[in-house]
Amino acid sequence: MCGIVGYTGKQKAVPILLDGLSRLEYRGYDSAGLAYINNSDISIVRAEGKLSNLSSKIDRRDSLGMVGIGHTRWATHGSPTETNAHPHRAGDVVLVHNGIIENYLSLKEKLQLKGHKILSETDTEIVCHLISEHLKKEKVFLKALSRALSEVEGTYALAVLYLKEPDKLYAAKKSSPLVIGLGKNENFLASDIPALLPYTKEVIYLENNEIAVLEKKGVTLYSKGLKKIVRKAQTIPWNADMAKKDGFKHYMLKEIHEQPQVVSDTMMGHIKKGAQTIDFKEIDSLFKGKKYPFYNRIYIIACGTSWHAALAGKFYLEAIARLPVSVDTASEFRYREPFLDKDTLLISISQSGETADTLACVEEARSKGVKTISICNVIGSSLARASHATLYTHAGPEIGVASTKAFTTQLVVLLMLALNLGYRARKINRAYLQNAVKKLSHLPRLMESILARKDDVLAMAQSYFSKRDFYYIARGVHFPIALEGALKLKEISYIHAEGYSAGEMKHGPIALIEPGSPVVALAPLDRVCVKMLSNIEEVKARGASVIGFVTEGDKRFEGKCEKLFYVPKTVWYLTPILLSIPLQLLSYYIADLRGTDVDQPRNLAKSVTVE
Ligand code: M6R
Repeated sequence: MCGIVGYTGKQKAVPILLDGLSRLEYRGYDSAGLAYINNSDISIVRAEGKLSNLSSKIDRRDSLGMVGIGHTRWATHGSPTETNAHPHRAGDVVLVHNGIIENYLSLKEKLQLKGHKILSETDTEIVCHLISEHLKKEKVFLKALSRALSEVEGTYALAVLYLKEPDKLYAAKKSSPLVIGLGKNENFLASDIPALLPYTKEVIYLENNEIAVLEKKGVTLYSKGLKKIVRKAQTIPWNADMAKKDGFKHYMLKEIHEQPQVVSDTMMGHIKKGAQTIDFKEIDSLFKGKKYPFYNRIYIIACGTSWHAALAGKFYLEAIARLPVSVDTASEFRYREPFLDKDTLLISISQSGETADTLACVEEARSKGVKTISICNVIGSSLARASHATLYTHAGPEIGVASTKAFTTQLVVLLMLALNLGYRARKINRAYLQNAVKKLSHLPRLMESILARKDDVLAMAQSYFSKRDFYYIARGVHFPIALEGALKLKEISYIHAEGYSAGEMKHGPIALIEPGSPVVALAPLDRVCVKMLSNIEEVKARGASVIGFVTEGDKRFEGKCEKLFYVPKTVWYLTPILLSIPLQLLSYYIADLRGTDVDQPRNLAKSVTVE
């Protein structure tokens, strides 16, 4: 949450900072601001609301500075006003922050007693004053910064300007992401890779408790004790075009359409052309020499959409690999007392690899000897670095706040993992595996065939977009897909939507059904399909308008559903992936018809880097 950018080099900083912020706006869009060294002072411009408000406030002729920092905010402490917008200033120190300073109230009291005038309601401004306070005794800025940080509790990614060192840009990190982009005679700083892509693919991730000093000529990293650190740069395999809309009205729609390609890219690393097995070299060392069931317990943890993928993953791992699995949201897992020891395997799932709760679970589990595998989309992200092994989804940059292609690629990785472990455990034989590989190779084509019928989904959306409540029902492995369908609808259209396991409806939720209530029923051909038929009858008898998503050729739903969408007939484990697409499209079209801000829905941010 919150996007940070920084620049020092040979070009004017302001256009680069604004461009970087526009690529990070998905991280927060309550307010924005930037600061740049101008002649002998630091100019600060801030604006409430979206980045366009900030952009129109900046006098580009006046902004010649070549060093600067920028911020796009998702408010945690203090409402999204201009006063609370970053950057904040105290004397010669100006900074932007992502994270939460947990002891800011006690620090504030101390600083106020020393005469500091705090203007905003934010926790961030306190850090600024704290550094200024240390500068009274410590003239070396790096040391003053380090001392101030040692007093701070909580999480931070900071980009700091100090007027007396106008060529330098300071950065510091603890549990909130920061990545440095290396250029020629210029260097960049950002919360996330997309901001760097037009300028460089050579990056260095800052680690917890480190400080970086960026200058035109180079970057110096320091440990907590201010010892210099040498770290090799990594090359990011994404390019700037991947983060463009390509003529689509929204990123979300573009990302929905990218799914056949990114699913294929995700499979490619594990299924070699012509081969009939699934390789996961990344995790070999975690299973080598171990007998089924490999670990005493397996947990999968994640948040939001990634949690829905985890729920589907449990079905795959149980049914295919016969491995017992528990699934938890990371925010709950953290605060109960799960059994964690060296015979435990923890699989975490995260698109961004920066979700605070997920990351904290992995770090804690690791400290207790647990083996950790992450399923992640961002190469080199904090989660990937914190895990023993990472299985990457190759979905490319996902900019729409509503996750789509990350979800289906996560499902594909979980399915391949189940097949790989099932074969290692001898729970499936070679013929099963070979058939699965063949079916997987057809998946992108089947996904294309659904996208080709998007107008049918648009027509559905036109019939129901003004409804107030939606219910999504399904059973088995499709239940998590119903939850995901409901989440997609609520987050971008602001319609109240709930997912229920169809069998649970009559234990309470059916009381909500009234004439005309839209019920999205996922009833593909599987062993519980006939049960779904009864569940559909039950809600229909109470007046529901049933929108059925069923298997091609299954005529039993005609006359029972007000609208029907057919998905291709295939093996049970691919159907959840296929069904995800029309549900994403349904949410997208409904939201667009309601005129909401699809890519940047209210109150949300793409990466939830605070608890
Ligand atoms: O980056 P992550 O996968 O860890 O993010 C987890 C959730 O914040 C995320 O899936 C969120 O629920 C999305 N807005 C859903 O569309």
